[in-house]
Amino acid sequence: MKSSDSRFCYPSNPLAIALRRCFSLALGTVAILLVACQTPAARALSVGQMTVNSRTNPLGIAADDVSLAWTIAAEERGTVQSAYQIRVGTTTEGDDVWHSGRVVSDQQVDVTLPGDLHLQPATRYFWQVKVWDGAGMASDWSAPAWFETGLLSPADWSGAKWIAAPTDNAAAPRPLLRDVVALPKQVKCARIYASAHGLYQLTINGLKVGNQYLAPGWTDYKKRIQAQTYDVTPLLRKGDNVIGAALGDGWYRGNVGMSWRGVYGNALALVVKLQVTYTDGSTENFVTDENWHAADGPMVQADLQDGENYDARLEQPGWDGGGFDAASWKPVAVESDDLSKLVPQPDEPVRATEVLTASQRTEPAPGVFVYDLGQNMVGVARVKLTGKKDQTVRIRYAEELYRRGEKHGQLYTDNFRKAKVTDTYTFARDGSVTYRPTFTQHGFRYVEITGVDTPPATSDVQGIVFGSDLPDIGDLRLSNPMLDQLVRNIRWGQRGNFVSIPTDTPARDERLGWTGDISLFSSTACRYRDTRAFLSKWMDDLRDAQKPDGNIPAIVPQPHREFDETGVGWSDAFITVPYAVWHATGDPRIVRRNWAAMQRFYRFVHDSATKDGNLLEEGRNSWFSGDWLSLEGGGYNRLDEHKVIATVYFAEDTRMMAEMAAALGETNQAAEWAALPPKIRDAFVAAYRKPDGAIYTGTQTAYAMALGLNMIADTAQCEQTGSKFIEKLATDNYHLRTGFLGTPWLLPALVKIGRDDLAMRLLLNEDYPSWGFEVRMGATTVWERWNTIRPNGEFGPADMNSFNHYAYGAVGDWMFQHLGGLQIVESGYKKSQIAPLVGYGGLAQAQCRIQTPYGPLASKWQLANGELTLEVTVPANTSAEVVIPATSTEAVREGNVAAVSAPGVKGATFKAGKVTLLVGSGRYEFATPRQTSSKASND
Ligand code: BGC
Repeated sequence: MKSSDSRFCYPSNPLAIALRRCFSLALGTVAILLVACQTPAARALSVGQMTVNSRTNPLGIAADDVSLAWTIAAEERGTVQSAYQIRVGTTTEGDDVWHSGRVVSDQQVDVTLPGDLHLQPATRYFWQVKVWDGAGMASDWSAPAWFETGLLSPADWSGAKWIAAPTDNAAAPRPLLRDVVALPKQVKCARIYASAHGLYQLTINGLKVGNQYLAPGWTDYKKRIQAQTYDVTPLLRKGDNVIGAALGDGWYRGNVGMSWRGVYGNALALVVKLQVTYTDGSTENFVTDENWHAADGPMVQADLQDGENYDARLEQPGWDGGGFDAASWKPVAVESDDLSKLVPQPDEPVRATEVLTASQRTEPAPGVFVYDLGQNMVGVARVKLTGKKDQTVRIRYAEELYRRGEKHGQLYTDNFRKAKVTDTYTFARDGSVTYRPTFTQHGFRYVEITGVDTPPATSDVQGIVFGSDLPDIGDLRLSNPMLDQLVRNIRWGQRGNFVSIPTDTPARDERLGWTGDISLFSSTACRYRDTRAFLSKWMDDLRDAQKPDGNIPAIVPQPHREFDETGVGWSDAFITVPYAVWHATGDPRIVRRNWAAMQRFYRFVHDSATKDGNLLEEGRNSWFSGDWLSLEGGGYNRLDEHKVIATVYFAEDTRMMAEMAAALGETNQAAEWAALPPKIRDAFVAAYRKPDGAIYTGTQTAYAMALGLNMIADTAQCEQTGSKFIEKLATDNYHLRTGFLGTPWLLPALVKIGRDDLAMRLLLNEDYPSWGFEVRMGATTVWERWNTIRPNGEFGPADMNSFNHYAYGAVGDWMFQHLGGLQIVESGYKKSQIAPLVGYGGLAQAQCRIQTPYGPLASKWQLANGELTLEVTVPANTSAEVVIPATSTEAVREGNVAAVSAPGVKGATFKAGKVTLLVGSGRYEFATPRQTSSKASND
């Protein structure tokens, strides 16, 4: 198929572009010089980071709902945006597609393209923006950024078909497929669009296409299958080119969840379209069809949970390059031409994001070699193996080693349950190879190698870290080593469990999208990574899984229809997750895209809670939706608490829906919902608060949720319940006893009743049960249970004992807000509060930063030489309240002047030992004689 279309090929004359850019730069410089000569104080105002659908220059996106954002770089304090202008074109500095005109607005996030632009498939669009500041000064046009659409409908695939090996079955080695494409002319640019039933990896002329792993990612394949777009221009040449594909079982055919197999189908299949644009402007398409050929490959088994068995004796050297004799290969079977489920992948793919090298090798039993990577991670090992023809080497993995007894130093794998988590490599000939499995993924810190005569050197064993490649936007560094390690553990938990979907654990035979886990962790997740595209993709999965009554299953994707549970704290993810993302970013796109379905879910919640004629939720529960794994629940759960928990969730869901409705401009709906939470709270207090102030079951969770989530409006009642809470904590020796649902609210509840000191005490505990205990026991990720390792060094119950579960890492949100001090006042940090708790537990310094959608927001505080210093950076077009413990307003300096008279400081107040300064954008250095934030008693 030929045409003269070349829509994804941008202007190809680099010299012309360079000259044009130089010319405009020169003009810009002249203009700046002129402005500089005319104005007394020269300003530097420019556009910084530009994103589309929260991604930088995304390749292969859908054409609907395209959302633009940018940051502003400005040196002057107090910079705001008063207006913007956008142009979109099919050439680098063109505006042939859209021109916004000058728009008077401070909006920088989620500026959507009009829906009637009729964006074309497989087309690159360039865009630029310029902004005006509060004084009316304009920036230059930004450098061009771009986005490129993928294939948008089945017709765009130009007749590509799903192809499979002719005799594909689960017992046969995983297939290889190939085709030779002849390109008669010089290639200007080229794209591959591809997807698979199963996992795929493509090569062109023997070189890997793209840098992603585990494509096409996990969705409910019966409803939606993601397709990826690759720029393959550098891989092609004039003449013959070989496209190769290897297929593995993945989520489609392999083990998912609790060893469920073949959930979506049993035949592995591939679909590909290669679109080539030649230098003469003509294009040609090549697609998967009956002309492709297939053969068995060397992967005898390739399963995400069980691992890979690789038999090098089955390799066909050169199969994916030129000059290979494919006479024995068989024509493929054409499976189907139904491409209706294909959609462009909307988020960043799974990539290798880091490589760890083993630091230690031990031999705990003869011939058993164990390597320590020093970090519980998710991915695969890369090992240099030496062996003889027909020799099979076995590679096993574990998160932990036995710490005592006769197995001391050996792998602890009981907690993997049925997942085999084992790779094997069989040598085709004597010698050394570097082996890395392709279609599997393990959760591990330790690598065990057996079946070798010569063990690999320590430096020859590496861990390739996998994860959905979300932008790293935030960090928190603390001078207390335990707390600092805890933050690292939380962050590694996020990396390892964000693999195409948000999972509970990456290691055992589960690895499921448990809705409750991410519901609890999403606010924390948003502090450290830009979750927008990733969680927005998962919201598509939730919509796919929504039940006719509006309810949401407890695991999504829901791979096994028989596991059909729902429940409070889990299903509510459909509201809490988009809320967390919108609140953290000020970007309503994730809400807008799901709003109709979210409202259906909320109606379900509302009707369930109100069906008995009151506002108390007593029915929407299942076996796990009490406070899961609470220590007050006898090991697993405490179900008598569900009434308290469920009514709190009803109030919270309603509050969040009201705020999101307001963000979407649905003011009537927002007002209606906003009126309800006070009534639910009154009903809660009447039903569950006893006259002496105690809450119903008297558990830590009941107090934490009632206080931390503001269920008690009356100040005196709140204080009385607060005292009961502290009594309860005292009986628990000031140690936590909460499970999944209660834990995130423990420290906020203590702050709410003015007991920052007790919040810090719980956080700083290092004996069982506590976060610090895990760290002291050597954890490098967050555990599933408080007793995943018991104080005596024994492991917790093996049937459910993950070392990498992020739910209890939800404390990361509190630490970011209260130790780093960066809090959200208006969504997306449009207005922030910088209010670190200083002076507890020997913590002398904290540094915190986040790349907000408006730019970098940062704080760094330090106690030294009798002085508290606080450096803050506030992004352009935002403001902040900086709260500093001090004796008076006058006691706070900024740089060399009194803080109140420093440029950019718009106001100051003093109350209860704290000075609050209102500041505009810019960088500030505050200092005051040393004080602690609040009461620092030690009960
Ligand atoms: C998972 C959890 C999940 C829970 C539901 C467990 O098996 O690992 O994290 O939320 O089941 O009760």
